[in-house]
Amino acid sequence: MIQLGQHPAPTHVIAHISDTHLLAGGRPLYGSVATEEHLARALSKLERSRAVPQALVFTGDLADLGEPDAYERLKAIVEPAAERMGAAVIWVMGNHDEREPYSSVLLGEEPSTKPQDRVHDIAGLRVISLDTTVPGWHHGELTDGQLEWLAGVLATPAPHGTLIAVHHPPIPTPLLEAMGILELLDQQRLADVVRGTDVRGILGGHLHYSTHSLFAGIPVSVAAATCYTLDLTRGDRLLSGTDAGQAINLVHVYDDRIVHSIAPLEEAEEVTAFGAEHLATLAAMTPEARRAAFSDKRSTFNLGATAGD
Ligand SMILES: [Fe+2]
Ligand SMILES: [Fe+2]
Repeated sequence: MIQLGQHPAPTHVIAHISDTHLLAGGRPLYGSVATEEHLARALSKLERSRAVPQALVFTGDLADLGEPDAYERLKAIVEPAAERMGAAVIWVMGNHDEREPYSSVLLGEEPSTKPQDRVHDIAGLRVISLDTTVPGWHHGELTDGQLEWLAGVLATPAPHGTLIAVHHPPIPTPLLEAMGILELLDQQRLADVVRGTDVRGILGGHLHYSTHSLFAGIPVSVAAATCYTLDLTRGDRLLSGTDAGQAINLVHVYDDRIVHSIAPLEEAEEVTAFGAEHLATLAAMTPEARRAAFSDKRSTFNLGATAGD
């Protein structure tokens, strides 16, 4: 990765994708939302970016009704793209998922009704997929056994620390009061386990809009859905889903921080640009020369740019 500023390259790059909500047979969600097309577009946008993710983390609600065929279709869309990118795939259970097809169809294991918690090692960065679901319900909960297991895992720090990937993010949802009913219960119990450990970030889903907060001093980042998103400006609705505003997040992990960048999925018209070929040219210059070339308002770069940039 080429660095043109003062920060060193990140140690890890993760793509954070959420709430795909696929249906069996490729049926559109609510009769009109092309969930498979949206997911495919997310992956093709990722592939054409310069991100080169080491892992794709899907934070739950993978299948809308937990149908086995929806998981088959999800695998068929995601796995070839992940392979081309050289990225591991990390799945997380969501309230719309069902543990038996999740464990058997998606993960290729014995069907299980137990919590689907797993630990992944991404080049020294530990990613814990934590199952916050309650079978038959939309809210979230962690059992005593899961919290004990998590404490046991976190007792040994990982070389680059830990990210926890969950479906129900443990943060307030001030513009959507109803989501408070569907949140993770007893969040203090999780806070007691993660506080003071090597957990550096929590990746969440479930909310269908991008948001960021803190939990027990740990940064929390929620990726909007790829299927549909919630419009936070509809005061006349308890909840309002729209086939717009879908996005994925790119997570760059540095030695001393994590940067979350939101990439919208809309294919919008380009109104101004510099070609990627300039990157190598700028990289070959000294910092002073590239500042003169790109920062000086009178440089040929800037004088040649479209008015109003
Ligand atoms: Fe969802
Ligand atoms: Fe959800």
